[in-house]
Amino acid sequence: MGERHRDAPARLWPVYGVPVDGGRLVPSALFGRDVPLILEIGSGMGEATADMAAADPDRGYLAVDVHTPGVANLLATIEERGLANVRVVLGDALDLVRERLAPDSLDAVHVFFPDPWPKARHHKRRLIQPAHVALLRSRLVPGGTLHCATDDTGYADAMLAALGADPGLANANDGFAPRPAHRPLTKFEQRGIDAGRRVHDLVFVRS
Ligand SMILES: C[S@@+](CC[C@H](N)C(=O)[O-])C[C@H]1O[C@@H](n2cnc3c(N)ncnc32)[C@H](O)[C@@H]1O
Repeated sequence: MGERHRDAPARLWPVYGVPVDGGRLVPSALFGRDVPLILEIGSGMGEATADMAAADPDRGYLAVDVHTPGVANLLATIEERGLANVRVVLGDALDLVRERLAPDSLDAVHVFFPDPWPKARHHKRRLIQPAHVALLRSRLVPGGTLHCATDDTGYADAMLAALGADPGLANANDGFAPRPAHRPLTKFEQRGIDAGRRVHDLVFVRS
């Protein structure tokens, strides 16, 4: 951890951190006002979360990741940029969704560049798979969006199949989506592009 983050978790966690366990979360308790809620799964270093939240101050962003240095970076970024609409969870996204997020409560779910687990024997570890899609969809409000992006072609096809097969979701596009202007470019994505990987976006709407 760099100097910038050394004391960030202890100091900022009580302000912006949200435990992965507990009762149902409501935006008014998280943000002090009743805003539409966006869930950012696997926020990594938090660059995209911070940029999107800064550009979208009337919605609340709940970022979740299992990676402590990334969560520490996001906590420090929230403070540096004075973001009032970001809260952070350290823990497993599916535990958070099951336990703390009510059905019909999310305006959008973002899953940007989840770990691809390219080997067939590891596919069961993928975040986007039919049972998890059904869970995430159940937490969206009708008309809410599930937006995924990946630079792994095999995972992109599997995502398209899993999302397309869910009875409660409709594809907002014919196949993959054009890159939405509101999804910021992260260092992770840039590294993939530099390595020649193609990025696929998928945008599905809860019916
Ligand atoms: C490849 S990184 C992408 C990070 C970021 N979305 C970006 O685009 O730069 C995937 C992230 O998902 C996180 N992750 C993996 N499994 C997770 C889980 N079950 N719950 C929450 N985060 C998870 C990892 O810790 C990692 O930070």
